[in-house]
Amino acid sequence: MHTLGRDAMVPVPAVVRRVRRQTRDTCTVDLDSPRGQGFSFRPGQFNMVYVFGIGEVPISISGNPQRPVPISHTVRAVGAITTAIRGLRRGDVVGLRGPFGSSWPVEAAEGMDVLIVAGGVGLAPLRPAMLHVLANRERYGRVALLYGARTPHDLLFRRDLERWRGRFDLHVAVTVDAPVLGWNGGVGVVTALIQSAPVDFAECVAWVCGPEVMMRFAVAELLRLRVAAERITLSMERNMKCAVGLCGHCQYGPYLLCREGPVFRYPDVQRWLTIKEV
Ligand SMILES: Cc1cc2nc3c(=O)[nH]c(=O)nc-3n(C[C@H](O)[C@H](O)[C@H](O)COP(=O)(O)OP(=O)(O)OC[C@H]3O[C@@H](n4cnc5c(N)ncnc54)[C@H](O)[C@@H]3O)c2cc1C
Ligand code: FES
Repeated sequence: MHTLGRDAMVPVPAVVRRVRRQTRDTCTVDLDSPRGQGFSFRPGQFNMVYVFGIGEVPISISGNPQRPVPISHTVRAVGAITTAIRGLRRGDVVGLRGPFGSSWPVEAAEGMDVLIVAGGVGLAPLRPAMLHVLANRERYGRVALLYGARTPHDLLFRRDLERWRGRFDLHVAVTVDAPVLGWNGGVGVVTALIQSAPVDFAECVAWVCGPEVMMRFAVAELLRLRVAAERITLSMERNMKCAVGLCGHCQYGPYLLCREGPVFRYPDVQRWLTIKEV
């Protein structure tokens, strides 16, 4: 795997190639690989993105692992740094470190049905896993993507969703909490879609990412439908500073999320997932 720079603590400059607006508060930023060097990542990994003079945040890589450059990050503006990322323009320079962290177990899932459950910006770290599965479609059984957003205006990757919905070898179901006039899709929480997913629950893997409360309900539903606990995989979020296991900011129970995570098998985080504000 190609990592950026020689020292994982030192950001290397990367030029913004394009900023694509996704929703009112979300955009995808495409970066040229720093100094033209190679870059590769595994689905589910993240980079530290540094906006000079403002600060640095962990952001999942949302691009295609088969074509990792430009390096894409899909960012929801919630605070100072992510708002500054949303304000970037072509030609701006940011600092970049990575890729860091664990990844979705895409190879281990070969031969099995795949159920992907995403909520909100949680689709960003799952998109590379989805693209990997689609690029190697013959290696997997049935594939289902369930995606929930707050409103139709908050749906990310609309072009992907439309393309994927048009495929015969894929089940895509989209739901929103609050519909708007003209919305013909589902209404309600994404976890309600799980029981109708056309996969063999006894033999599938489930990859889940979204707000923690959504992941808790999703796991409960998956277990109720007899998905094996060790086949459920989640991606967790915590504050990060160093991203290399030194500062302790991302501690989650016995783990450092930047080092052992962010992608975990459910049994490994089961105990901590039930305790609020761990
Ligand atoms: C491994 C990992 C991967 C991640 N991947 C992504 C990704 O792909 N895309 C992405 O968008 N984010 C991602 N995040 C989250 C992202 O890192 C945080 O949103 C970011 O650190 C927030 O920084 P900030 O300075 O913009 O906000 P801060 O000011 O630090 O705000 C921190 C938190 O306060 C809350 N908050 C602050 N202001 C507001 C507001 N106005 N409205 C609502 N809530 C608010 C939010 O919960 C926010 O997360 C990831 C985090 C981790 C750990
Ligand atoms: S961010 Fe410093 S230990 Fe994880």
